[in-house]
Amino acid sequence: MKQRVFSGIQPTGKVTIGNYLGAIKNWVELQEHYENIFCVVNSHAITTKQDPQILKQHTYDMAALLLACGIDPAQSSLFIQSEIDAHPALAWILNCNIPMGEMERMTQFKDKAQKNPKNINVGLFDYPALMASDILLYQTDLVPVGEDQKQHLELARNVAQRFNRDFGECFKIPEPLITKLGARIMGLDDPTSKMSKSSKAQNHAIFLLDSPEEIEKKFKKATTDSQTSIVFDPERKGVYNLLCIYEIFSKKTRDEIEEEFRDQGYGLLKRRITEVVVETLEPIQREYTKIRSDEKYLLEVLNQGKEKAQSIADQTYKKAKTLVGLI
Ligand code: AMP
Ligand code: TRP
Repeated sequence: MKQRVFSGIQPTGKVTIGNYLGAIKNWVELQEHYENIFCVVNSHAITTKQDPQILKQHTYDMAALLLACGIDPAQSSLFIQSEIDAHPALAWILNCNIPMGEMERMTQFKDKAQKNPKNINVGLFDYPALMASDILLYQTDLVPVGEDQKQHLELARNVAQRFNRDFGECFKIPEPLITKLGARIMGLDDPTSKMSKSSKAQNHAIFLLDSPEEIEKKFKKATTDSQTSIVFDPERKGVYNLLCIYEIFSKKTRDEIEEEFRDQGYGLLKRRITEVVVETLEPIQREYTKIRSDEKYLLEVLNQGKEKAQSIADQTYKKAKTLVGLI
């Protein structure tokens, strides 16, 4: 029996190469080794302001993009969170078993609340309970998480352990699957901050659906420094970030890369990065266009994913409901 992996990603129109390298690419690689359930978490997305029409489009866009990146419906279930009612339903039961103090410790809520003081809603505060529900419904063994989601996974583990102890065995306790290091991509304009899809700066992020011209322009403007040697030095943040991107996309070793750019300038480095990024994204973009224009296929895949997921989710939810005495 393969272990089961569950992961979720919020639907936003623009996916950066940071999201790709830090999350999606790992999911694609996990497919062979695990049983996978991947979810577009649109219910999490409404914890921040969304235009309803655009949210709907972005939800399908994200599903299509995941398929284009290599999520294979024959190996993985892909579905949309809001399609399965057990997610918010179990979250309610979990809510009633999470002490306020535990939730109040979540640093992501504090960050998001500080950044967006005009829309601090109860859903945003309760976000981790819905995430715990996502994970626990599927008797998940492993959750691939980045640094920023570790605390949420820990909360999911705690609530599951407490529930099992207080009401009887119901949930498998999920473990984090820490994926490869070095995949934290920084902003091209400001290499001291993480590349983020929400940055408003023009040359901050490379998006998966950027044209070759846009990619070239952004790398050209990327921050470097006034030194001349091209070597992996974490202290020289701009150049280091570019080299890390090049390392992952080109699949070359650090030695090979330093050799390649010995006595060369940043101009060549930027041209080579542009080439390899454009070359890698081109087939993804082609596949995306194909899938996104074939609505029938996309809906079929999502429906099939939903059916598989639903049969597992319903069983767990029913068990939890019975254990707490709900009819
Ligand atoms: P977010 O865009 O913050 O909603 O993140 C979605 C997923 O992409 C999470 O698993 C993040 O850890 C990952 N991710 C986002 N930005 C980056 C980045 N700059 N470098 C590496 N991983 C990232
Ligand atoms: N909170 C996650 C993020 O922003 C997305 C998410 C929702 C998730 N539910 C999940 C991730 C369940 C893993 C498992 O990246």
